[in-house]
Amino acid sequence: MDNRPIGFFDSGLGGLTSVYELHKQLPDEKVIYYGDTARTPYGSKSPDTIRRFATQIVDYLVSRDTKMIIIACNTVTALALDSLRERYPDIPILGVIEPTVKKVVGDGCRRVGVIATKATIGSDVYGRSLKELDPSIEVSSLACPAIVPLVEEGFADTEIMELTVKHYMDDFVRENDFDNLILGCTHYPLVAGHIKKLYPGIRLYSSSAEVISEARRMLVERDMLSDGFSMKDRYYASDLSDNFIAMTDQLFAGTNFKIKFVKLED
Ligand code: DGL
Repeated sequence: MDNRPIGFFDSGLGGLTSVYELHKQLPDEKVIYYGDTARTPYGSKSPDTIRRFATQIVDYLVSRDTKMIIIACNTVTALALDSLRERYPDIPILGVIEPTVKKVVGDGCRRVGVIATKATIGSDVYGRSLKELDPSIEVSSLACPAIVPLVEEGFADTEIMELTVKHYMDDFVRENDFDNLILGCTHYPLVAGHIKKLYPGIRLYSSSAEVISEARRMLVERDMLSDGFSMKDRYYASDLSDNFIAMTDQLFAGTNFKIKFVKLED
């Protein structure tokens, strides 16, 4: 048993979708979440900058005595997972990409689409990882850079978002033959309703969800599950935007939590 909290982080509020999944699968676990809302989006920034921001956040989460770190961001996973594991070899650090890839290949998908940020698509991490496990799999990828800023601004449930999804995806769906789609950004489950409505025949895989099944396996294997102690979950942000507060209130209504501004220095 290990009652220390699990550390999560993302460029903003997208990683809250992974925490939501954690609460469903492992309701006794406690959370410290860091959303870098002052510097979002990460997906259009350089690899060096993304690694620098991610290192600052993980240093902070480790200083808060977290038992495991979940990088609830595909962009950081794609660009900084290896360097973060090197920096903290004794703490389990999970990224969102490998568990998603394993699930998609395990389900026997043959034709797979991937949508994600520019940085994640540019790294081709999904294409390479899928083909490593199954060289015959067909992968089509598309960057959708406007979705994260719109979600951060509170437009997830609006017609503007539906039009944005359509703008990116109509040609992509028409020109590529896939029936499974990886939501390769943890902000995208918040717009999954639009995708399902526009393209009902496509099966969606959420990178936010698969990592939690992996975390659960690891915690059980290492005897590190919590027994439901009474700490409040903590949601920290580098800028307390109205939308970060509203989304946290909406997703975690009924749970015991604090929201706070926390500034990280270089
Ligand atoms: N949620 C992050 C991801 O999964 C978004 C990155 C960004 O800020 O652009 O990639």
